[in-house]
Amino acid sequence: MVSVSDFAGRDVITVNEFRRDEIVFLLDAAAQFEQVTGTLLAGRVIATLFFEPSTRTRLSFESAVGRLGGSCVGFAEAGVSSQAKGESLADTVRVVEGYSDLLLLRHPLEGAARLAAEVAQIPVVNCGDGAHQHPTQTFVDLYTMQRECGRIDGLHVVFAGDLRYGRAVHSLVSVLTLFNARITLVSPQFLRLPEEQRRTLETLGVEYREMESLEASLPEADVLYMTRVQRERFTDPTEYDKFKDAYTLDMSVLQNARDSLAILHPLPRVQEIAREVDVHPHAAYFRQAHYGVAVRKALMALILGHADKVLA
Ligand code: NCD
Repeated sequence: MVSVSDFAGRDVITVNEFRRDEIVFLLDAAAQFEQVTGTLLAGRVIATLFFEPSTRTRLSFESAVGRLGGSCVGFAEAGVSSQAKGESLADTVRVVEGYSDLLLLRHPLEGAARLAAEVAQIPVVNCGDGAHQHPTQTFVDLYTMQRECGRIDGLHVVFAGDLRYGRAVHSLVSVLTLFNARITLVSPQFLRLPEEQRRTLETLGVEYREMESLEASLPEADVLYMTRVQRERFTDPTEYDKFKDAYTLDMSVLQNARDSLAILHPLPRVQEIAREVDVHPHAAYFRQAHYGVAVRKALMALILGHADKVLA
C-alpha cells in the first residue's frame, strides 16, 4: 500500500525510482488536486534553478506554488546566476538550500540533478537534465493519457521525431514498460532511441517496433507522442538541418489514424505538428501543458508533506 509518507522528503531524479503503484497514487492525487487552491504551501519557498530555457515546466510549477499559497525564488537562465561568475552547481545548491524548502533544477548536463540531490539536504526535483530524463513531464504525460484515453494500461503508443536526444521520450518510454504498453518508435536512423534504452526494452520483454514512416505507424495507435528535433543537443548544425523537418503531422497524415487517436506533444512545437491539427478534437497537447499544474501541485504537496489535508 502506498501512502503520502512514501513521498515526503523524496527526491525526483529519474522515473525509474518510482514503482507503478506509486505513480498511480501520484496520478490519483493529481486528479484530486485539480481544483485545489488555498494556503497549503503558505510559508513554503520553492527554488527554481533553471540553467536552460523553459516555459511550461517552470511556469506550471510556479503557478502550482502560487495556487497553493507558497512562493518561489530563482532564476530562469544561467547568465543571471552566479554561474556566470564561475560558481559551481554544487556551491549554488548549497547556498540556495538555505533559502528554500524544495529545489527545482533544469540543467544542460546529464546527471546534474543527481549531483544536486547528493549535495542538498532538501528535496530536489529534476526538471530536465540534458538529454537524460524529465520525470515530471512523464507524470504529466501519463496523467494526460489517463484523462484523454481513460486508461494507461495496454495503450499502443507511437513516439515520433527525435528519440535520440528527447529527454521527455527517454523518461516516458522507460515508465510505459510498467503499464503493458505497446510501443512503436518512429524516427530517422540518426535519431533512433539510444541503444541502451532499446536493450532495456528487450530485457524487459516489452513489445516494440521501429520504423521510419509516420503514416505507416498510425493505423493501430491509441496515442501519438510527437516530439521536436532537439536542436540544442546537436554538435553539428548541418546534421540538425538534415533532420529538422523529418516529420510533419498534418490532416492528411492523420487520415491513416483512428479517429480516437490522442495526439500528445511535450511542447514547444516547431514545425512537427501543422497548425491545422490544433482543432482536432483529440489534439491534446495544450490540455497536456495545462494538466502540468495539477500534477505539480500534487507532487509538491506530497514531497513537502502537506498532501494529507487534501487526499481522502
Ligand atoms: C521538453 C523538454 O524541455 O525536454 N519541454 C518541456 O519541458 N515541456 C521538450 C522539448 O524541449 O522539446
